[in-house]
Formats: sequence, C-alpha cells, structure tokens
Amino acid sequence: MLRTVTCGALSLQNLGDSVTLCGWVQKSRDLGGMTFIDVRDRYGITQLVFNMDDNRELCESARGLGREFVIKATGTVVERSNKNLKIPTGEVEIKVSALEILNAAKLPPFMIEDETDGGDELRMKYRYLDLRRNPVRNNLILRHKIAQSVRRYLDGLDFIEVETPVLIKSTPEGARDFVVPSRMNEGEFYALPQSPQTFKQLLMVSGFDRYFQIVKCFRDEDLRADRQPEFTQIDCEMSFIEQEDILNTFEGLIRTLFKEVRDYDLPAVPRMQYADAMRLYGSDKPDTRFDMQFVELNDLVKGKGFPVFDNAELVVGINAKGAASYTRKQLDELTDFIKRPQIGATGLIYARHNDDGTIKSSVDKFFNEEDLKQWSEAFQTEKGDLLLILAGNTDKVRKQLNELRLEMGNRLGLRDKNKFSALWVLDFPLLEWDEETERYHAMHHPFTSPKPEDISLLDTKPGEVRANAYDMVINGTEIGGGSIRIHDRALQALMFKHLGFSAEEAQKQFGFLMDAFEFGAPPHGGIAFGFDRLTSIFAGLDSIRDVIAFPKNNSGRDVMIDSPSTIDEKQLKELKIKTDL
Ligand code: AMO
Repeated sequence: MLRTVTCGALSLQNLGDSVTLCGWVQKSRDLGGMTFIDVRDRYGITQLVFNMDDNRELCESARGLGREFVIKATGTVVERSNKNLKIPTGEVEIKVSALEILNAAKLPPFMIEDETDGGDELRMKYRYLDLRRNPVRNNLILRHKIAQSVRRYLDGLDFIEVETPVLIKSTPEGARDFVVPSRMNEGEFYALPQSPQTFKQLLMVSGFDRYFQIVKCFRDEDLRADRQPEFTQIDCEMSFIEQEDILNTFEGLIRTLFKEVRDYDLPAVPRMQYADAMRLYGSDKPDTRFDMQFVELNDLVKGKGFPVFDNAELVVGINAKGAASYTRKQLDELTDFIKRPQIGATGLIYARHNDDGTIKSSVDKFFNEEDLKQWSEAFQTEKGDLLLILAGNTDKVRKQLNELRLEMGNRLGLRDKNKFSALWVLDFPLLEWDEETERYHAMHHPFTSPKPEDISLLDTKPGEVRANAYDMVINGTEIGGGSIRIHDRALQALMFKHLGFSAEEAQKQFGFLMDAFEFGAPPHGGIAFGFDRLTSIFAGLDSIRDVIAFPKNNSGRDVMIDSPSTIDEKQLKELKIKTDL
C-alpha cells in the first residue's frame, strides 16, 4: 500500500506515530513561515503542516500544490495548537518530512466542497468530481449499506439471488421498451427488461421457492424527479404463499432497513384499501405524514342555489389547520396554484373558522350561518382553521385536491424529511380504462391475479374487478408494488383476452409463460421495491438522481459520456438498419 493510514483515522491517540497518507489537496494556507495543507480522501481530512525553518525546500514544494493535486505525505503525528473540533482528526496534524506529488490536477470547474458553486449540468458533466464531494459520496455509501442490509435480511430467510437476462423480448404491455438490434438475427430486436417479472415467475415454476435480485430495469418513459430510464429494483418472488405472507415478509424487510441503516423505529405499517385511499386522499400514494383527509360535502351543499356545487359530481374539501389567518393574497396564490394547467381546477372555495368563533366563507351569498356550522362539524374545525373546497368531476376533483393537500402540507411544514410514514395500499383494481387506446390495461401487470370473488365481474363490470395487488408507499412515494400472480394457464389466457389480445397474439407474446404454467406452476407472488426511491427517501432527498452514481439528466442524456450518440455507418450497415426512414 502507498499509505499507512487514511485521512480520517488519526487522533490524539496516535501522537508521535510516523505515518504516510495519500489523498487530494482540499485547500492550502500559506502563513509565511508555515504552510498548512488539508489532504482529503473518502475517509476524512487531515491537516499537514510544513515549517519554513525546518525544511525550506519541502515547504516550498507544499506551496506549489494546487487544489485537487494527488499527493503522498509522510511525517509524524503532532498535537494541533489551534484545534478544529468539528472534524474527527481536528486535534492533530502531520509534521511532514517527505512529500510526493502522485499526480497534478487542473483547477476543477467547481468547488469540491459540501456546498458547491457548480450548477447541475456542470456537476453532471464532471460527475467524477461531483462524487468527490461528501454529500454525494455519502448518498452512495448509504445506498451500499441498504443493499448489504437487504442481502443479509433476504439471505437469512433463504431467498436466493439469481441474475436474469438483460437482452430479452419486447412486449406490448407496460411502458415503452428500449430495444437493441441483433446483428446475428437480421431485422430482429431484443428489448431491455422493464422488470424481470416473467423470469422470476419462471424461477418459481423451477422450484426456486424464494428469489431476489438487485437488478437494473429499463423503461423508456418521460422522466421526473423520481424516474430514471434505467433504475434499480429490489425484485422478489415467493412460492406457496398468500398475500398476507408477502406483506409480512417485506414489511419486515423495510422495518429492518430503517432500523439497521437509519436507526429509525418504523412502526407496523398500516393498511388501506385502494378505494379508501382515493376517497380520503385522492391518490393511491398518499403522504400520511400528515392527516388532512378529504371530507365529502355533497349531502350538505347541494340544492342551495350555488350552481358550482349543484352541477358538480363531487364537492370535497380539506381542513388546513391553523391557516385561517391566510391573507387574500395567499388565498389567491392557492387559487392560481390549482388553476395551473397541470392541475386544471376551475376555482377554489374557502371558509375560515375565525378566532371569534364565526365561520365566514367565500360563498356566504348561498350559505347561511346554519349551513356553515354544518360544514364546520363535518370537518371538525376549530378556531383558526381554514377549509378549502373544490367541486367537479369525481376523479378530476380528487386529483386536484390531492395536489392542494400536498401543497398545504408543504406550506404548513407538515412534510418533514426526517419523519417517515409507510402505508400498504391494497386491493387495487385489476384493470384500468385507457382513453387513448380505448381498451382496458392491466393496472399492475397482466400476470396479476384477480380476487377470486370478483372473477365473475370480468365479463360484466371489468373496471370493478379488484386484484390481489399491493403497493408500499412511504411519505407519498410509491416505493414498491407487487401482486399474487396467476399460475393457471386458463386464467392467464382469460386475462389476455380481456386485455384485448387474440389467442394467437397472447401465445406469440407470452406463450412461454403460459406453457410453463402447464408443467406444475406453484401458487406464487412477489413484490419489487424501487431501490433508488428507497435510498432517496432514506437520504431525505427529492430526486433519485442524487443516489445514482452516474444518472441521466431530464432529457435522458448522460452528459458526461455524451450518450445517446449516433453510431457510424459501418455499425449501422452491420445491423442492417436503414437511416433514411
Ligand atoms: P412496478 O412497475 O410497480 O412493478 O415497479 C416496482 C417499483 O419500481 C420503482 N420504479 C421506478 N423507479 C425509478 N424510476 C422508474 N422509472 C421506475 N419505475 C418504477 C417504483 C415501483 O414501485 N414487476 C413488477 C413488480 C412485481 O409485481 O413484483 C414491477 O416492476 O418504486
């Protein structure tokens, strides 16, 4: 080894030791007779000291060091007169007797400090420099710790880690595939897996019984803060289980991770039906760090002559506790917020429960004191509360009020990043109607089993069939999702029929799986967690980019390696890809 200790190791216990350290120059201070250099590595920072009177030549070469030079220094550990108690090595310094420059460095394009002056794009272009910064590196260390903890927990329960292929087959369900042309099979393409779903089910048919994999998945979809085109799942599957077993096993995993990695005692995870989540929060991934549940008002407000309410399918509101003091300007801001095209509400009705006990609404013309008292009872308001009410089409208005609820949660400081609230959302609908293609799509995926008691509805009311499907939500983010699978050929074929596949299409796309079901498929089910999302929640970050070593930007580009990029004519010819299309 070039070094005897790291830059984070030394303390007063090491006084007098002769040591050699290697690292990057964080900063240097030249005080005339003395030069101080902070040398940094992954483990910490240690101060080197050079004294003009002791060794003029050495001191001068120290003065010549630039930021981020890679150096090796040998010397003796001495006590610092001017201690820095903010860092673990801050009570000692190294009186250097030998210094070697291992590599010079150009001036970095941004400061390698916890708070940097580099903008997003610049930091992405020089991601390897960004990764030298503590906060970014710490996110990856956190990620590593979670991965190790996952492996320990699942290995302890006899799960076997199996790698599944990355060059697979394009299928029409789900998001768009990334495809890879096959040189050896002219005109044919592989697809990169959106998840190892069918393979993990085949492993169950093979008798693996308990499988997991920390695995890259690829989806060509529009990017958001919590979506990357390539991301990682903690993918799991089990045989001979029921939904309850999956919920218990993986609730155990998540609670263990919180304990081991964050020393956080996550309580037992409450459960909520999908239908209730939609009714109470307008979302299948409610942020349950705060209450503010929806209260439906149809029975109280209809027929009083206010057309907005009378014509609405649903009138629904929230109680923003303590916000009655909101000014006209703040209320206008909220109105503008919900009228933005992304949200699309037409207007906001409000009522204040004033400190003098009176209740005043923005629609006092239509609702008298008695009416408003009833509103107050429905929302259980207290003095100082503000009611925010929307009206319209049920699905739309729920989505809009969900946005408003989250906005109020932010404004009222109810979404603390160091607080964690997990929730199981259960009994998702099996199918969802897609306006664009005018057909039903599998809400989770086509291998999800319907609830046995709902199968008879498949022909008559397909939209009402519930699935044995579940999501885990933490702080309003969908962290994981899974289902109990179909393991019977006839039921799987029926499912494809309802998704609009002809028997031939279903056989062509998914025959391999349905065939396998005829060779002794055990009852099975599973779940996949979004590893990036989980890590970003543990780190208290909004974007998963910060927990990925080399992420893509919002246009799906890696600006460091400049990808995607064109390929040369020769490669295209070899692949028989025509470019004049
Ligand atoms: P699903 O599609 O719900 O299920 O994905 C599982 C989890 O993966 C995460 N996730 C993503 N994370 C980052 N970027 C993305 N683009 C992205 N897409 C999804 C989410 C999500 O909950 N095979 C099934 C699982 C199963 O049934 O067992 C599946 O892939 O956190």
